[in-house]
Amino acid sequence: MHRPTDNLRADHELTTRGVRVLAAIADWVAAGDEFPTADCASVLRFLREWVLAVHMRKEDEVMAPAVAMLADDDTAAVVGELLRLHEEITELAHSLVLFWEPIGDLTSSERSGFTETVRALVARLERRQQLEEDSLFPACDANVPGDDQLEWLESFAQLEAERGSRAVWVARIDALVTRWPI
Ligand SMILES: [Fe+2]
Repeated sequence: MHRPTDNLRADHELTTRGVRVLAAIADWVAAGDEFPTADCASVLRFLREWVLAVHMRKEDEVMAPAVAMLADDDTAAVVGELLRLHEEITELAHSLVLFWEPIGDLTSSERSGFTETVRALVARLERRQQLEEDSLFPACDANVPGDDQLEWLESFAQLEAERGSRAVWVARIDALVTRWPI
């Protein structure tokens, strides 16, 4: 059976590639090179429109509440930590909105603000993904009945249909990776 955790692990492969492109852009900007406006806007759109609005909603609205209820206290604590990281990631992504269409080249303080914010964001995205793969997904596979999980796959497909599919974003991120080798 194709499980929800398999679907989310496939999401993580794409997210990891997008996050590495963002980190590569931050390194480029930190080195003083010209700000890559279009590519930066594309990868920030990916974060906002797909990682936050599709992938994390699959996890936090569909999967995590059931896992927190059915698994042990340690897993419930991990779910709390995941939600806290989700809030921080949302705030950090929002604070990068200034850099979507910067007018002219950035000042040195804008450059350092950008790179520090991106690095904080990347660290939280990586930490969240690690916690999910180490704790949330194994707890889901071990504790949630298969019938419940079948409905989740339908909810996942619905979210992708409404907000954007993984397949569409794979093509876009592949195009970015040709310019930002990771
Ligand atoms: Fe995730």
